[in-house]
Amino acid sequence: MTSNNDQNTGLNEALDRIAGESSNAEMNVSWRTWLAASTVQERGIEIMKIVLENLRQGRFIGSKLVANFISDLASTCKNNEENFITIARLKNSTNYTYAHPVNVCVYCIALGSRLKLNDKQILQLGIAALLHDIGEVKLPDRMTSKSAKFTESEFAAMQRHPRLGYEILKRDPTIPEDSLMGIFHHHERLDGSGYPSGHVGRFIHPFGRIISVAETFDAMTTSRSRADAVPPSEALKTLYSLAGKHYEANVVKALISLLGIYPMGSLVRLAGGQLAVVLQQSKEDLSKPQVIVISDATGQRIDPYVVNLYGDKVERKIMYAENAYTLDIDTNGVIYDTLANSTEVSQITDRKI
Ligand SMILES: [Fe+2]
Repeated sequence: MTSNNDQNTGLNEALDRIAGESSNAEMNVSWRTWLAASTVQERGIEIMKIVLENLRQGRFIGSKLVANFISDLASTCKNNEENFITIARLKNSTNYTYAHPVNVCVYCIALGSRLKLNDKQILQLGIAALLHDIGEVKLPDRMTSKSAKFTESEFAAMQRHPRLGYEILKRDPTIPEDSLMGIFHHHERLDGSGYPSGHVGRFIHPFGRIISVAETFDAMTTSRSRADAVPPSEALKTLYSLAGKHYEANVVKALISLLGIYPMGSLVRLAGGQLAVVLQQSKEDLSKPQVIVISDATGQRIDPYVVNLYGDKVERKIMYAENAYTLDIDTNGVIYDTLANSTEVSQITDRKI
């Protein structure tokens, strides 16, 4: 039998490999993909509700249910990694407590696959990702929904949730040790500035180093009680600027290669002044995705149309990312309407739909 140390050596090697240097494979996002992703996300949210209710009733979490869900997710990811991450792009800020762990789990499974973890490791990583914030059940409700800044004592209490999660779940013999360690270490940072232990570098479990990247990205790009969402490309920039300091560089690289420079759902400003929403990545060039143009150069909303920026005849290009939240544009709604109106969206280029 392989010891935990041997397993960790394998995981560390996986993180050492240059992850995902190649560009993203081309997606063929369709309305069906979007609906399938919604169904999977809803199922994940239901499972999180059952898990938390079990804990509140003093029962074990229902690890078989969790493991089955993650196995299904992992096989979906294997079949179509790029469409798979659509699940996590379906922002569900009203249900953050339940949707956040599901999204983090989706990102982690895709990252684990990019980092060439084996099936068993991906399952264990997925369990850790789905349950990473479970320790928050021991915090007062008022803290998890609080919009104001934490007081010093509240912040100290919040910092205990990784350890609390570890302690709650270690009583359950069906939860793997590596999953427990991933939960314990998901707020540690490479330079020792994290919590609860302030571990550095290799002392942080590899699952902790993967979950921290996925968890931060999802938290930053979702409106929560304590913070407004930032554009996905800004979140990736922040993670990249902290790669090697807070976050494992290869995991950040893998996330960028998975999502593209302007991830699906990003609001961008084109060189001509138009606003557009990113629909899917281009296999040829991550800076030239397929986008849905939604305004003219003056900012007036127009009937949306799809343009593939790669190979675009008039050479439109992205100048910078805009903040959809401050401009009050529902980018998910734009994508949903576009997909709902076109069953052959991948073949539509540069024409009104
Ligand atoms: Fe956390």
